[in-house]
Amino acid sequence: MDKSAKIEYNGKSYDFPIITGSENEEAIDINKLRAETGLITYDPGYKNTGHCISNITYLDGENGILRYRGYSVDELCEKKSFLDVVYLLIFGDLPSSDQLTKFQNDIREEALVDEDLKKIFKSFPRSAHPMGVLSSLTSALIAFNPLNETKISIHDKKGITEDDKMYMSTVRLLSKFPIISSWTLRKIKGLPLNYSNNKLSYTENIAYMMFALPNREYIQNDVITNALNTLLILHADHEQNCSTSTVRIVGSSYAGLYASISAGIGALWGRLHGGANQAVIEMLELIKNDGSDIDKYISKAKDKSDPFRLMGFGHRVYKNFDPRAKIIKKAADQVLNDLGINDPVLDIAKSIEEKALNDEYFIEKKLYPNVDFYSGIIYRALGIPTEMFTVMFALGRIPGWIAQWKEMRDSNNPIGRPRQIYNGPTHRTIS
Ligand code: CMC
Repeated sequence: MDKSAKIEYNGKSYDFPIITGSENEEAIDINKLRAETGLITYDPGYKNTGHCISNITYLDGENGILRYRGYSVDELCEKKSFLDVVYLLIFGDLPSSDQLTKFQNDIREEALVDEDLKKIFKSFPRSAHPMGVLSSLTSALIAFNPLNETKISIHDKKGITEDDKMYMSTVRLLSKFPIISSWTLRKIKGLPLNYSNNKLSYTENIAYMMFALPNREYIQNDVITNALNTLLILHADHEQNCSTSTVRIVGSSYAGLYASISAGIGALWGRLHGGANQAVIEMLELIKNDGSDIDKYISKAKDKSDPFRLMGFGHRVYKNFDPRAKIIKKAADQVLNDLGINDPVLDIAKSIEEKALNDEYFIEKKLYPNVDFYSGIIYRALGIPTEMFTVMFALGRIPGWIAQWKEMRDSNNPIGRPRQIYNGPTHRTIS
């Protein structure tokens, strides 16, 4: 028998169907709640609200499981390149070698950025935060994109999801976003802007565009490529988080892919989301410069009257451990070892982790290190400036945002438009 949930209200009883996912997660389908009962639900932060049915990423927070299209992230990190994972997320299956070659070549063909876009980039002050610059430039890409998504009529049901247009928008973004990201890094470092090197793989090319120095032969470093590969894969998707829901909601109004992703970049920037990786390093530096008194900062984090929180700790969904953090911690040790770097903040991070994991407050609230706790230490070891850490997160998340946007459009979801309980003044007149 089909399952249902009963709501009793004002002396009447209403049945609502239960939806079951492929991993047996269950949800009450309240589509008809307001129409039948006049009620809405109240759920600040959407802690209990599922806003879509998705086939992309499975996350089990209690058991620390994260899978893309059924494959565990551990196995993907071990056996596949970031570009394989990009393909997997967007198209649903891992690519054959011919499919991967074509995808790579199509991305290479789009590796040019309009000179006028470069002018816009150059007009930003050097002090501008790269996330703001990238959000603006991603939105600006529409103006230079002959597919001109914004002109697609709302009556054109297929719109940009029409396969060939969607494919072109996808390869263009995957090609141009790393270029403009590398520019933001080069501007911070005062280096001349660089372009793509089409002989390199997708991840090698990201490293090349960021790190190649003028008048010096560029030598590919496998430690850097492997570390980037792992980090980008781990960031590639994470189901309905703040930025991904933003991308879906913006796209649900029939705004274009680039405008939606530009909004997602803004959402990712915040320190409670992707901006936490920058905040973690700033926190570790603060603790180091304050005499490495870890107990003092653990106490501050527990004190409700103190706004200080342990950055890189806690997660809305993971209540056991963040599987990404486990992989990243191991990678951080390896990268620092392979590059011969001794970073004192790594020791501070490890001590904080050890103390917090044995502290009643963190145990009781199920607060564990998240993906951002160790990722910044790796980025720092690779020579990436702190303000660029969230850009690295965005670089990895682009395929996830594209896949989620595409799925939202293909499933013809209605426009995202929550309700509210109004609690302001009742009707009054101007005297
Ligand atoms: N340090 C100290 N206390 C914390 C922390 C922390 N990092 N995180 C949560 N708490 C406490 C919080 O004060 C609350 O206590 P109480 O129940 O007494 O009011 C309780 O734990 C539950 O926290 P919450 O803020 O209600 O939980 P949430 O699901 O709304 O927030 C979070 C999740 C990630 C925003 C939060 O844990 C946090 O602010 N962490 C630090 C920022 C961070 O590392 N963000 C990166 C998240 S992972 C990357 C990504 O995918 O975005």
